[in-house]
Amino acid sequence: MYVHLTDEIFDTIDPYVRGKRGVDFGAGDLQATQMVTKRLQPAAILAIDKYPARKPLPPPIVFKRALFRDVTCEDVADYRDFAILFWPNICPFIYDGLKGVLGQFTTVIYCGTNFDGTACGWPNLFEYFLSRELLAHVPDQKNSLLVLGNAQANRRSPTPEEDAGIDRSEIKWEAVWV
Ligand SMILES: C[S@@+](CC[C@H](N)C(=O)[O-])C[C@H]1O[C@@H](n2cnc3c(N)ncnc32)[C@H](O)[C@@H]1O
Repeated sequence: MYVHLTDEIFDTIDPYVRGKRGVDFGAGDLQATQMVTKRLQPAAILAIDKYPARKPLPPPIVFKRALFRDVTCEDVADYRDFAILFWPNICPFIYDGLKGVLGQFTTVIYCGTNFDGTACGWPNLFEYFLSRELLAHVPDQKNSLLVLGNAQANRRSPTPEEDAGIDRSEIKWEAVWV
């Protein structure tokens, strides 16, 4: 598991996940999916990853092996309350295709770090985030949380995490010091 799920993060995402149906994009070893399920009791989670799950998981988790580029709006139609992106990879190709699908979700929940010269996500993902309302933000140098809501007409100002995710011209290590 890459993401670090703190009590503060659980408390912040609780209203968007508890009793709701969502997708964990890039679920990896599924540990975070299981932790979220145990703690927040969503009605269902569709966990998607390009690699197979090591073991079958009980409901409400459903696993789908797929590349993001092949995930359709139909695939996520029953799970549109929240989309989880915990520590998404740095890859220029994967997010353009995903944007249309992410647009289906009421809430997008992101955790990652961008302050150390690497990043969790590609600039186009963070540019997309700026087209959505910022519902919650738990800053952390190593594992920031962003919760994104409705699409909005005007691009909002970036959080330090989004700024560091978009502008890779320098290492923004001092942006958040905790
Ligand atoms: C850094 S890991 C994070 C895993 C998990 N979210 C966590 O926090 O532990 C990124 C995950 O995204 C998956 N992934 C990356 N690119 C993908 C793609 N194009 N389609 C599907 N899954 C992808 C990888 O296989 C990997 O499991």
